[in-house]
Amino acid sequence: MSFELLHTDATTKARRGRLTTPHGVIETPIFMPVGTQGTVKTLHPDDLLAIEAQIILGNTYHLYLRPGLDVIDQFGGLHNFMQWQRPILTDSGGFQVWSLAKLRKITEEGVRFQNHLNGAAMMLSPEVSMEIQARLGSDIAMLFDECPPYPCERSYAEESTDLTSRWAKRCRDWVDANRPEATDGGRQLHFGIVQGSVYADLRERSARALVDLGFDGYAIGGVSVGEPEVEMMRAMDHAVPFLPEDKPRYAMGLGTPPQLLEMIARGVDMFDCVMPTRVARNGMAFTFDGPINFKNARHEFDTSPLHPDTHPTVLPFSRAYIRHLIKAGEILGLRLLSLHNLHFFLTLMQQAREAISANRFEEFKNEFIERYEARNY
Ligand code: GUN
Repeated sequence: MSFELLHTDATTKARRGRLTTPHGVIETPIFMPVGTQGTVKTLHPDDLLAIEAQIILGNTYHLYLRPGLDVIDQFGGLHNFMQWQRPILTDSGGFQVWSLAKLRKITEEGVRFQNHLNGAAMMLSPEVSMEIQARLGSDIAMLFDECPPYPCERSYAEESTDLTSRWAKRCRDWVDANRPEATDGGRQLHFGIVQGSVYADLRERSARALVDLGFDGYAIGGVSVGEPEVEMMRAMDHAVPFLPEDKPRYAMGLGTPPQLLEMIARGVDMFDCVMPTRVARNGMAFTFDGPINFKNARHEFDTSPLHPDTHPTVLPFSRAYIRHLIKAGEILGLRLLSLHNLHFFLTLMQQAREAISANRFEEFKNEFIERYEARNY
């Protein structure tokens, strides 16, 4: 059994669990730093070990286009290519085709598109995506899905949800026939993706169809597409009741620190988001006392550290110096803030796990949000 449910909080649906993958064990709830192109931007793998990242994310779409599978095959998989020996989850490409490629056309077979690098005509389908992810050797491969836009007409959402379910069956068949392994061996895990837009009955239908096929975990997709936060939380509430207790649940592409805690309270175990690394490159740091914008002039002469709870590597540097680096466009500034932000997200997850074990997740969440929103530091 790959997932062990260790404890459920006494008053919320928050869960603590342990997911075993070919490259190691992941303690949940967990946040997964995003390494789209085989690197978490600005960071060395040793930095990721220093902040105790347990698993990172890679993208089928990007790695398939560049450097291509022939290059990565030479290394026996993505782990060896990028020098990261802990777990990797790969997204299936459907979402990225949608947001990046040109001239997309969805058919029953899959998605035809012109790639965003050189415009070449390409095709991703359930079988192609699963094969690419098998060759990347990720520990967890996501099923090939269609992520409908927001807002989305009921009729489109219904057709799209059922297409995702039919594609899930083809992914299941491909996996059963090929039994893919992670880099250097061990069974690759496969997660289905619940779609259904804002429609409760479609979320239920999607979840039930995936659960019938049987996967190692279940994601909630089709969120973080511009919907208001209340719809995001509703998507969780509409899907979670139909997902098995004994499998991990993953909210794709989310969220802010308070949103992560709200989703954990709803029974979600795994998250990924570009936000901590993307906003770092824009001069923003997340802290327990709210976000800090280093472009703000109030930090110009500030000799204090970024935050007392920052990572030891970042602690010696003053706010004035970090602001200077950001203003001057220096790479060290991007690196320090990326490291800080990921350390913050991972620390938040560790505290969440501890609060769940102590049956005090609701208090923890409320105290965190109150302090975060007070911005008193
Ligand atoms: N990343 C964020 N949302 C989604 C989604 O709905 N599907 C996939 N495959 N990836 C995502």
